[in-house]
Amino acid sequence: MKDRRTLGAAGAALAAALMLSTSPAAADKTPAGKTALLPQAAAKPWMNKTLSAAGRTALLLKEMTQDEMFTLVSGDPGFAFLGASVPKEAIGSAGYVSGIPRLGVPALQETDASLGIANPMKVRPNDFATPLPSGLATAASFNPEAAHDGGAMIGQEAWRQGFNVLLAGGVNLARDPRNGRNFEYLGEDPLLGGTLAGAAIAGIQEQNVISTVKHFAINDQETKRFWANSVIDEAAMRESDLLAFQIAIEKGRPGSVMCSYNLINGVYGCSNNHLLNEVLKGDWKWPGFVMSDWGAVHDSSYANAGLDQQSAAAFDKKPYFREPLRADLAKRSFTAERLKDMAGRILYAMFDAGVLDNPPVRSQIDFKAHADVARRIAEQGIVLLKNDVGALPLAASAKKIAVIGGYAADGVISGGGSSQVLPEGRYLDVALGGGGFMPRSMILHPSSPLDAIKKLAAGAEVRFDDGRHTGSAQKLAAWADVVIVFGVQWMTEGADAPDLSLPDRQDVLIDAVAAANHKTIVVLETGGPVLMPWLGKTAAVLEAWYPGARGGEAIANVLFGKVNPSGRLPITFPKSIDQNPRPVIPGSDQPEPGMPLGADAPTVKPIDVVYSEGADVGYRLFGKKKMVPLFPFGYGLSYSTFDYKNLKVCGGKTLMINFDVTNTSAVAGADVPQVYLTGTPDKAVQRLIGFNRIELKPGETKEVTVTADPRLLADYDVASHGWRVKAGQFKIVVAHAATATTLEGAAAVEGSFIRP
Ligand code: BGC
Repeated sequence: MKDRRTLGAAGAALAAALMLSTSPAAADKTPAGKTALLPQAAAKPWMNKTLSAAGRTALLLKEMTQDEMFTLVSGDPGFAFLGASVPKEAIGSAGYVSGIPRLGVPALQETDASLGIANPMKVRPNDFATPLPSGLATAASFNPEAAHDGGAMIGQEAWRQGFNVLLAGGVNLARDPRNGRNFEYLGEDPLLGGTLAGAAIAGIQEQNVISTVKHFAINDQETKRFWANSVIDEAAMRESDLLAFQIAIEKGRPGSVMCSYNLINGVYGCSNNHLLNEVLKGDWKWPGFVMSDWGAVHDSSYANAGLDQQSAAAFDKKPYFREPLRADLAKRSFTAERLKDMAGRILYAMFDAGVLDNPPVRSQIDFKAHADVARRIAEQGIVLLKNDVGALPLAASAKKIAVIGGYAADGVISGGGSSQVLPEGRYLDVALGGGGFMPRSMILHPSSPLDAIKKLAAGAEVRFDDGRHTGSAQKLAAWADVVIVFGVQWMTEGADAPDLSLPDRQDVLIDAVAAANHKTIVVLETGGPVLMPWLGKTAAVLEAWYPGARGGEAIANVLFGKVNPSGRLPITFPKSIDQNPRPVIPGSDQPEPGMPLGADAPTVKPIDVVYSEGADVGYRLFGKKKMVPLFPFGYGLSYSTFDYKNLKVCGGKTLMINFDVTNTSAVAGADVPQVYLTGTPDKAVQRLIGFNRIELKPGETKEVTVTADPRLLADYDVASHGWRVKAGQFKIVVAHAATATTLEGAAAVEGSFIRP
């Protein structure tokens, strides 16, 4: 039985909701200390819950035939895709892997879930789910507990809809602010991203559902995603993207890892012996199974390179892990031991997550409690970027409020692609046209900022203009005491943004509105960083990302001061795309050859994406090149003010940093002090080595302690195959953001070598 206690302090209401009689915990209680033998245990000794997941796997494998092992290592789409036949037991989702009823092994019902239980093709017309705020919003909370609660919530919804595998846990680093999937990921820093992904994965798996961390690895742009060859050196890769995965895997212990479409240093992600066999399973000793991304397998030999399961075989040219792999076995180019290892890893993940012990039960979802989880994350993730004196929170003296643009009357926008969640209630689907595999339509989650603003603006008159015509918007702005104008940027899987401008002339609209009324507050709902040519003319700016199920309420709560903003940027906002190492997206000047489906992928010449910045992603490169961003990583304002004092830095085996944070204002609020490493014994660096989100009452002081993960002090030494910490002085700063240092210190650390 899995321990389902950990919903976090903020999740008390959710915890109560989860304890309904149909919960997995209630479904299968075993008195503590008693041998947990189910009735069939004598015949199926692997159902003895007192044994370890590895022990149970070994017992089950003994009974399993080779045919049954082959069943486990390949899957089908869970919905009718380009005429593919769908197994009748599939409940309708991204993927389905048959079970083995003879041995009591259930089928794997897999659904996308980066931001909630997805239903992108509306395959299950009556299933709705709670949309979480985007990954960047969760990352902006700098709060592992919030990420955990979000994971627990979606894990619970999956379980109640009959799913036992979530394709959730995206932790690719944001190397390009235009990446179409940044909104699914957790920003540009490996410590922040890995910590939050790990917390979300743990939350999911506590609900007896397998979580999948993806897309392994360096799948950092969508342009030509099936043909992009990520070129990066080994040490840089270990210190950046791989470190994010490593931390996420250590903290969350996901049952599954999804290998990516792209090539890494010339080898496809799902056939990458180095990444899969040597790093993931070798160095990291991870015991779970590698599943392929949909359409990422081009040969049966991928099994030898470390791929354990071919997902949704109809997406590939052939069901390589069926007849072709059997033929390899007959030819001895593939071994029975490896087949057993593949099946064993899948079974291990199932036992470890509790999939066999507590199978899903279709049951009612408490959407109200779950929407509250989404709202709390959105409130912690909204970032106040600018606030002229007195602009926010909105004062009661604002009697005439103009709300303009951004679909604010209808809801909040969400990102597109396989992660698309269909929310409960009336939602708006704005068809954007265009073809391709992914539906190009923007779903508005039914939480209208306009309605929420009206509710909180007691005694004020609130008028709305949709922003289509600049003239009418300007007139409304001139009438108002204060203007709230929305700027939206829809992003989707499968395409990168062409530039960093708000689309559809919204910059012109905002500029015109701000010219008509200097008390203009801009609320952004974007998939990532955008440029703000109108910044100097506005009074305040909020970055609300894609704020999810209760996004409208969360935005209004921050505008009116019911919630004190505490979000911090998990990604640098550049001043211009010329600050990016690749101002032109590699491959964007060539036609898209289409999905590899039915094509012979390796015959298409890959496009090199050279990650010349190496491990210096985002703020690290800005620091190194002394470039000034529009807004730095870690930045965010509050209605309170905070002060840092009494820094102590202790050395030894690693660094331990200790300081006091005081709320120096009359308003309660949360702060996110950050500790950056700025110098090792032989060079200047900039690396986030710790952060902490703390709530402080007016005048209150709390002590913060950060212990650095020694890998963040080290350099990856390829020749000796491990992390090397050089002996000597290490310098750190305590800061409000990557560029806002308040305290400086240093201490001596002993030299050490850490296995990878
Ligand atoms: C995406 C994955 C997703 C899979 C199944 C792929 O196109 O890259 O993130 O899990 O589809 O829907």
